[in-house]
Amino acid sequence: MNKLIKNATVVTMDADDRIIENGYIAIKDDRITYVGEELPADFVAQVILDGRHKVVMPGLVNAHTHTPMVLLRSYADDLPLQEWLFDKIFPIEDELTAEDVYWGSTLAVMEMIASGITCFADMYYFMDEVAKVIHKTGIRADLSRGLQCFDTEFDPMQDVRLLENEQLFKDWDGEGNGRIKVRLGPHSLYTCVPGYLQACAGLAEKLNIGMHIHVAETLKESQECFEKYGKTPVQHLYDLGIFKANTLAAHCVHVSEEDMDILKQNNVNVVYNPGSNLKLGSGITPIGSMMDKGLNIALGTDGCASNNNGNMFEEMHLAAIVSKGVYKDPTLVKAGEVLKMATVNGAAALNLSQETGMIQPGMKADLIMVNMDKPHLYPLHDVASSLVYSAQAADVETVLVDGQILMDKGEFKTIDYQEVIYHLKKISDRLFKR
Ligand code: NI
Repeated sequence: MNKLIKNATVVTMDADDRIIENGYIAIKDDRITYVGEELPADFVAQVILDGRHKVVMPGLVNAHTHTPMVLLRSYADDLPLQEWLFDKIFPIEDELTAEDVYWGSTLAVMEMIASGITCFADMYYFMDEVAKVIHKTGIRADLSRGLQCFDTEFDPMQDVRLLENEQLFKDWDGEGNGRIKVRLGPHSLYTCVPGYLQACAGLAEKLNIGMHIHVAETLKESQECFEKYGKTPVQHLYDLGIFKANTLAAHCVHVSEEDMDILKQNNVNVVYNPGSNLKLGSGITPIGSMMDKGLNIALGTDGCASNNNGNMFEEMHLAAIVSKGVYKDPTLVKAGEVLKMATVNGAAALNLSQETGMIQPGMKADLIMVNMDKPHLYPLHDVASSLVYSAQAADVETVLVDGQILMDKGEFKTIDYQEVIYHLKKISDRLFKR
């Protein structure tokens, strides 16, 4: 089916960073076939989307989250990290069923679509259920089974979690017209013994897949790593071979100059999660230094228990202002750089540079339409600035992934809102009202 978007301000995010006024975008099935100022003469569209007063930009890439954690939204806040995690979060997570994860993930996907996210990297368990959600809702995702192991005597061939992650790869990688990708998800160095991390590195090499891991999120993690292994978290993970795989490293808050050099030399992708890091009091990722070193920095929301939303517009705003305040330098982290983090850099981090993150012919039609006809968006002197500093998630009106319309004028096309809320209430009553 052919679709045409007309009369839009198109923020391409392509190599030339083009912004096209009164632009046209032609879409054939799942891919963009034309972007420019002229209406393609021979193009007949079955669906026409009017872009007047709208910015059309690549869909946002949320490069680190745990979607089913929406079930824990607003349940335990304003607590020290250890108490929050061990006394509040883990006991509820022990109760979760596959069905809970299915509906939790669906709610998270609905929230993400509504705020313009078209692709995300997810780490949790019952990931088969999440894969079903991706397949059904039409969004794009990179999935990993959260892996942990505290047993130094373990046998990697018998480890249920590792086997599940491998099976997830065999069952789902490339499914949904390539919308679903799978990588390994060793949770962190403090939940995985060194031998286990080595086994993960070996399996990633065997399957030729990427890795998704939390790195140097808190000072405690870094201090304990140094006490136990005499190294920084980054050095420790490097020595265990983790970075041989295409790695998505969430957080990287407590890193040294040398650590950043190691990350750069190994092409590790850093995922900056300012909302989560601020809320949990973890600190601030030194993205200014990382950008100077040429590291690829993507943006993520992290799970909903630590954010508490899946809103990349909020994350972009935070990413742009936090470093300015902390380092007392208003020139740090510019609006255009933040837009890149949320689009092209995210796509690159997920190994999807040839597919998504830009609006140009040949790319997948993963794009969003943002309504700029709102009081808080006039006057429009600088589109990037307006998107990062002024626009809100609720300004997103229309969302396409793989050429399919998932939301139009705020209405979900692949998800039944009432059905999801019905299940959410039932699950929430069971988990929390005992
Ligand atoms: Ni996380």
